Amino acid sequence: MELRDDLRLALDRVAFAEKLGITPDPWQRDLLHSASDRVLLNCCRQSGKSTMTAIVTLHRALYHPGSLILCLAPALRQSQELFGKVLGFYRDLGRPVSPQGERKLSLELENGSRIVTLPGSEKTIRGFSGTSLLVLDEAARVEDELYFAVRPMLAVSGGALMMLSTPYGKRGVFYEEWTAGHGWERYEVPANQCPRISEEFLEEERAVLPSWVYRQEYECSFEETEDQVFTTEMVERALTSEVTPLFGSA
Ligand SMILES: Nc1ncnc2c1ncn2[C@@H]1O[C@H](COP(=O)(O)OP(=O)(O)OP(=O)(O)O)[C@@H](O)[C@H]1O
Ligand SMILES: [Mg+2]
Repeated sequence: MELRDDLRLALDRVAFAEKLGITPDPWQRDLLHSASDRVLLNCCRQSGKSTMTAIVTLHRALYHPGSLILCLAPALRQSQELFGKVLGFYRDLGRPVSPQGERKLSLELENGSRIVTLPGSEKTIRGFSGTSLLVLDEAARVEDELYFAVRPMLAVSGGALMMLSTPYGKRGVFYEEWTAGHGWERYEVPANQCPRISEEFLEEERAVLPSWVYRQEYECSFEETEDQVFTTEMVERALTSEVTPLFGSA
């Protein structure tokens, strides 16, 4: 049977991942089984978040004809890396749906699906409509303006949104959505849940890195920003609604 007509792979993204030679970790399995269209992945370095997103992306492009999928990251190099994984998987499968255009930054399939890689600049993303999946890699480092510019693209299409990142301070949209956003399915994956990261390696990292860096990179922790003089808690404690501002209205 042709891969693209294989109903099992179309319906089961875990089977699809296995076809690509990947045995998903428990959290990855949950993600692949999920039908949620609002997903936040707060995962440690090297846990496989880009790999999983690449699988979700390719699966959608192959089995949902006419999909427009946008891959964004703060820098083009990062979105390109994600796209590189998508392209690698597509080639590994033997291009089950023929390409119409296979370029460095985009893949267009004969079933009408398109995967487009974009740098994290608000200007480049305006003009895309009908997006069925929007992926924000390294989302903790994405500018708020970019996030505000991309959300309306999902309004008419009803598209899905995935944001994946290792934390980067108590600020920005990824932090805000993770701590207070509504409607998200959340995955938190510290390094001790990643079978490919050994305890010995983590011991070494713990000894070498400043403790806040270790917590950020390997324990999914939103740490105070490096250059922040006052902690977020201090700032919040200092705010009061009981004092009338000297200028302007309350
Ligand atoms: N379930 C799995 N089985 C085998 N290898 C895996 C699995 N998940 C991820 N990997 C491998 O782990 C490595 C890291 O994956 P990936 O780049 O997706 O992680 P990441 O969380 O995006 O990392 P970073 O934080 O550095 O961007 C890759 O070599 C990938 O192939
Ligand atoms: Mg990554």
